[in-house]
Amino acid sequence: MTNTILQKLMSQRPSADWIINQSGLPYLALDLDVPTKDILKEWNVVKHMAVEHRDSDTLLAYKNQGWLSLTLFGVSANVTTASDDRHDWTQIKDQCKITSQWFEDTFRKDNFKGRIRFMLLEPGGHILPHKDREAKGLSEINIAISNPDDCYFYMENRGTIPFKQGSAFMLDLSNRHWVVNDSSEPRLHMIYHGRVPENIIERSYENLYYPKK
Ligand SMILES: [Fe+2]
Repeated sequence: MTNTILQKLMSQRPSADWIINQSGLPYLALDLDVPTKDILKEWNVVKHMAVEHRDSDTLLAYKNQGWLSLTLFGVSANVTTASDDRHDWTQIKDQCKITSQWFEDTFRKDNFKGRIRFMLLEPGGHILPHKDREAKGLSEINIAISNPDDCYFYMENRGTIPFKQGSAFMLDLSNRHWVVNDSSEPRLHMIYHGRVPENIIERSYENLYYPKK
């Protein structure tokens, strides 16, 4: 009897809720295939519409530099900061068919809770150290559509997040973080705010301990 109970306990997988709220992880690599080439192609058609993002942020005498954004799902393509107004696909959706379909297929539209944005950091650009929230836990999904060598995403006391093209990380942005693009190439990421299907989180967590061959 005891053995049966213990065996049941042993077969329990860590739940998505525990991984997000209790694990204490600063970031989790998500087990996803990202169509980076197609997304880059679509980005090239709409990138002229991108706007300066958080250009009023300051730290001492410093400002963000070369950080631009364009919203694919949200209030409007050029509203790149958080808003309580109604969110939907923006006017660039028709030019970003593969990108928007990938987000729907991966996360499902009823899970979308906030913006989905393109985030560009120009060559030589930087994002100043900041925290996006106080509450702890994994939440925002940051996807590297391109990530040149010599472009680094730092997290205080956690080190450099190992982004490379096609990687997607679920982040705890209550940790102070900053980004430096010390390369001659643009760095394009996308950020998704919303729920992530539990099976993606759970299999991604297991990859930490039982990496795929
Ligand atoms: Fe941030």
